Amino acid sequence: MVTPWEVKGEIDYDKLIDRFGTERVEESLLKRIQAVAGELHPLLTRGIFYSHRDMDWILDEYKRGNRFFLYTGRGPSSQVHVGHMLPWVFTKWLQDVMDVRLYFQITDDEKFLFRDFDRLAESTRVGYENVLDIIALGFDPERTRVIMDSKLIRRMYPLALRVARRITFSTVKAVFGFTPSSNVGEIFYTSIQAVPCFLESVRKGRNVPCLIPCGIDQDPHFRIARDVAPQLGYFKPALIHNKLVPSLRGMQAKMSASDPTSAIFVTDEAETAREHVMDAMTGGGATVEEHRKYGGKPEICPVYHYYAYFFEWDDDYLKEIYATCRSGSRLCGDCKAELADKVVSFLDRHQEKREEARDRVQEFMLTEEELPEHEPA
Ligand code: TYM
Repeated sequence: MVTPWEVKGEIDYDKLIDRFGTERVEESLLKRIQAVAGELHPLLTRGIFYSHRDMDWILDEYKRGNRFFLYTGRGPSSQVHVGHMLPWVFTKWLQDVMDVRLYFQITDDEKFLFRDFDRLAESTRVGYENVLDIIALGFDPERTRVIMDSKLIRRMYPLALRVARRITFSTVKAVFGFTPSSNVGEIFYTSIQAVPCFLESVRKGRNVPCLIPCGIDQDPHFRIARDVAPQLGYFKPALIHNKLVPSLRGMQAKMSASDPTSAIFVTDEAETAREHVMDAMTGGGATVEEHRKYGGKPEICPVYHYYAYFFEWDDDYLKEIYATCRSGSRLCGDCKAELADKVVSFLDRHQEKREEARDRVQEFMLTEEELPEHEPA
């Protein structure tokens, strides 16, 4: 089961493509992206960004000089974990190579409505904490506007209303599984997540293509936004989806803030992160003897998967790890220790940049003055 709020069981990513009706990122698309961007990001070549909607159209428009804008987001329920960073790292790359604007939505309203917090102020506070991680990734302040929903709602509301009027309860019930006990804010919420898809068109007073890099779990919101878009006279937002980083506890679950032992938070202390990595499940044999004899199973090993997220490790090195795990010569303890070192040095660097971001928050926040008072009729 995959919804924006819950992912249960091992995900069959091929099935999701069929069920959601998206398209696979094929070799031919990679070639086209490379031709336009001049390079390919490892998240593409390693098959982590694997599905899309209308990427071809985005590239066609771009080549004709009709630049798209990027839109991505965060629901601030907790500190950020390394899974959340994937779509953002990729978004930053797209911003750099394509030279485009980005709207980054922080849905503090969502996390209040879905009961992650009892007070909206708490959700907003965590949202500003998360903004530090976004800035630490190195987004360009000139081209990046962060939307804190509760602070910008006056300008977003007219657009949210136009979206909401075109979404029925039976649609959101079918897409998200709402029940009669769901609160009415939850039922309305998808209209808010749709707003940034059209915000640049409203700001510019002409239709601007939108590209959303995000985890596949967020796709249901944008299926609805895509249905509504033509009725409002806007382009449908295009998407490119990443697979979800698995839990440290095993491939059957995704890394999730609601289970801290499943995750590495980017604010974790070095020792906590190291412990979490060293306690991770692996695809290794039950004993060292068995492992040496029969070898491990990297396919089902979260630790092996994590190696792919550290881009300094090149494809040849990943192949070597795969082969030595399979043959039984590489032991899980060594594999985890090497990953733990890498994670700790990443956290060190990130946390330093995160601290430097503290006095830069306002530089990135979208203000009411930057948006027109009412949407064009
Ligand atoms: P949130 O905060 O749950 O997740 C933020 C982004 O991280 C992705 N993600 C993951 N990616 C890889 N591995 C994981 N284990 C993992 N868990 C989450 C999500 O798919 C998402 O891209 N409602 C949204 C906030 C939002 C948004 C958006 C997200 C508002 N507008 C536009 C993407 C695009 C949310 O709660 O995301």
